[in-house]
Amino acid sequence: MSRVQRITVLGATGSIGLSTLDVIARHPDRYETFALSGYSRLDELLALCLKHAPVFAVVPDEAAAATLRAGLDAGGSRTEVLTGERGLCAVAADPQVDAVMAAIVGAAGLRPTLAAVQAGKKVLLANKEALVMSGALFMEAVRRNNAVLLPIDSEHNAIFQCLPGDYARGLDRVGVRRILLTASGGPFRQTPSAELERVTPEQACAHPNWSMGRKISVDSASMMNKGLELIEACWLFDAPPSRVEVVVHPQSVIHSLVDYVDGSVLAQLGNPDMRTPIANALAWPERIDSGVPPLDLFAIARLDFEAPDERRFPCLRLAREAAEAGNSAPAVLNAANEIAVDAFLRGRIRFPEIASMIGQVLEREPVVALDSLDAVFAADQRARELAGEWLTRHGR
Ligand SMILES: NC(=O)c1ccc[n+]([C@@H]2O[C@H](COP(=O)([O-])OP(=O)(O)OC[C@H]3O[C@@H](n4cnc5c(N)ncnc54)[C@H](OP(=O)(O)O)[C@@H]3O)[C@@H](O)[C@H]2O)c1
Repeated sequence: MSRVQRITVLGATGSIGLSTLDVIARHPDRYETFALSGYSRLDELLALCLKHAPVFAVVPDEAAAATLRAGLDAGGSRTEVLTGERGLCAVAADPQVDAVMAAIVGAAGLRPTLAAVQAGKKVLLANKEALVMSGALFMEAVRRNNAVLLPIDSEHNAIFQCLPGDYARGLDRVGVRRILLTASGGPFRQTPSAELERVTPEQACAHPNWSMGRKISVDSASMMNKGLELIEACWLFDAPPSRVEVVVHPQSVIHSLVDYVDGSVLAQLGNPDMRTPIANALAWPERIDSGVPPLDLFAIARLDFEAPDERRFPCLRLAREAAEAGNSAPAVLNAANEIAVDAFLRGRIRFPEIASMIGQVLEREPVVALDSLDAVFAADQRARELAGEWLTRHGR
């Protein structure tokens, strides 16, 4: 490798951001941070800036910038502070940047991630919501700008590793029959329907295998995360929804599989630690140490598989239907889900109401074609309004 790669980490203060910085710090001969962004956790962002000395830090507004600048000055740091979506897009597209980790959660990550794509960067995609919202436009922008899109979701990174290098020729041409997307089943895999009425945000966020941000933790508990991943897989690997099958695998050791026409099934295994897919994508096509301990198959001893229960976890069915409907349906699903998860985390709705609310928003919002980013955000906005009306109607 020729020179040190400059990395922008969007969402540096989050779970994926911190894991990314851990991998980067293990390889100072290969990587340095160019920019870090944070949103509400300014103390954490300050500490990260003092440790990693990026050229830029990005925060939401001028008040946050003033706070961060004061801390940086006191620490003798020369990091420059930018603000807002404009600042995020600037550090994503800066000519000096080699790779961008897109790890902002939710729709807020779409424009900065697209800015990196449009600048032809190597984009490490953790922010699945961006692709779910704008799949066709996003993938077209990847092709037009020769961006290199590498999946960070452990499942999609596993599929990427199990596919041949020329899979973009088409799944049929490379002999793929199905993609098998594994799911842990989340903390409520064995919880009876009646008890789901009473589960708390803390229980939903206590994932048995993965340590993650709160939004994706609730998505995992409702299995909406798997639904969003199904849509993500369709776009990343140009697969119809019918060729992506969800397999519940509670140990989270097999991160996904690819089923070939000759009967071979290739799987990628590893400890459930996001530093593996992050290191894989950062160094691709090379391999580097991620800090993840070797897999101990004797300690794991067994691997189990079961079919998902879409009756108890209707979010998965809703996502599959949205994937099949295409056009604006996934953007509407995603926006309604963001409002529903936020309401659940604030104690305003019960867990099963997440799916009820999303289902009703999808029923009320007609599916329309999305031919521009404005159209994507318009669909997103309408879904948020309908979800807001649902809350009002139900007195929340
Ligand atoms: N965690 C995982 O294991 C995992 C695995 C696969 C995929 N992903 C995906 O990766 C993304 C990040 O997940 P995470 O678990 O790292 O989430 P997280 O811990 O909640 O971190 C989210 C990051 O986004 C920032 N952020 C939040 N709202 C923002 C806004 N409106 N504008 C700009 N920045 C904002 C946060 O800043 P503050 O913290 O400073 O507020 C934080 O840096 C999600 O799309 C998730 O689906 C995560």
